[in-house]
Amino acid sequence: MREPQRMQSVQSPIIPVVAELIRENPGTISLGQGVVGYGPPPEAIAQIQAFLADPENHKYKPVVGLPALIEAFRRKLEIENHIPAGDGSRLVITAGGNMAFMNAVLAISDPGDEIILQTPYYFNHEMAVTMANVRPVLVSTDDNYQLQPDAIRQAITPRTRAVVTISPNNPTGAVYPEEAVRAVNQLCRERGLYHIHDEAYEYFVYDGARHFSPGCIPGSAPHTISLFSLSKSYGFASWRIGAMLLPEHLLTPVRKIQDTILIRAPVVSQYAALGALQAGVAYCRQKLTAIAEVRDIVRRELSTLSDLCEVPQADGAFYFLLRLREEFDPLNLVERLVREHHVAVIPGTAFGLDRGCYLRVAYAALHKDTVAEGVGRLVKGLRKILAGQQRSAPLSEPD
Ligand SMILES: Cc1ncc(COP(=O)(O)O)c(C=O)c1O
Repeated sequence: MREPQRMQSVQSPIIPVVAELIRENPGTISLGQGVVGYGPPPEAIAQIQAFLADPENHKYKPVVGLPALIEAFRRKLEIENHIPAGDGSRLVITAGGNMAFMNAVLAISDPGDEIILQTPYYFNHEMAVTMANVRPVLVSTDDNYQLQPDAIRQAITPRTRAVVTISPNNPTGAVYPEEAVRAVNQLCRERGLYHIHDEAYEYFVYDGARHFSPGCIPGSAPHTISLFSLSKSYGFASWRIGAMLLPEHLLTPVRKIQDTILIRAPVVSQYAALGALQAGVAYCRQKLTAIAEVRDIVRRELSTLSDLCEVPQADGAFYFLLRLREEFDPLNLVERLVREHHVAVIPGTAFGLDRGCYLRVAYAALHKDTVAEGVGRLVKGLRKILAGQQRSAPLSEPD
């Protein structure tokens, strides 16, 4: 039988590989997976009774989402993100941010087109683009993992369909300033491209950093696709609820895609999401206090490694992306950290960082004592492993 090519070119997600390593080494503290340590608010769980009370809820429901949830999400966008209703955009409830991204890619591209991603990228974005037979065009962020609008401009070709940005960012924790997001959005407008902006971590900002939604820019609606997720903010990862705000003219293609692949996000989860939005951003803010404390611990500990690695500023999400000053095989380093020091992190290769050695540290899933222990093991482990290795030449600056 002929072996199909489509999935051959798609990378395998690294999270299950690290999870297997953790399983093989009991007692390992995971600073790996990007999840929060809390679940949904009680208001979300309370909605399950309402779901069960109506037998009609066991039947098919609208592809784009329950009207009540769309309305609640629209209100949230107006109040929190300053995105006015009736600006020519439409809202679709999806089964999470990843599904929203896939919907967007399929709706805007033909095989052989190009979509610009920033590196380091979120691996599922790169995988989705590749799966659609679209070419991911990779543009480096700068040494602080910030956007480089001029480099993005230079990467545009006649086949380019969209520029993707994520802020706050996975895997870097960088928060893009409003001017940078505006610059990309304006560039897309001028060049007839879509700007896909992923806001999964919109509430996770620290030290006075501010989240900015390009969907609020007047005149941005026809070319801006904004992606949202309840997975992180409301502890909803397993419930699979996200949303996409898209130009009206993309509604028909997105309906076709979602109707074929999913039909619609599970109705019980949509009820729960309605409850989560009733609890509102206050629920996440309450959790953020503890996460910010954990972040301080991690940052303090990592700063003691400054002779071995750089830790660029990360004012958002719940990640730090370490850049080692010396060459080392990242996957081998991750394996040794798990086997010899019982702490897990994610290698930068998963995010398209093929030159140099990078490690992503995620810190929102654990209690602060556990994180302190985990990051302590990481610091000790890195010191020991790197001291023992035959040092190669220092890395040249990335170009
Ligand atoms: C940038 C980004 N977008 C989307 C997702 C996935 O969100 P969801 O669970 O809503 O599919 C993640 C998860 O880590 C993410 O980091």
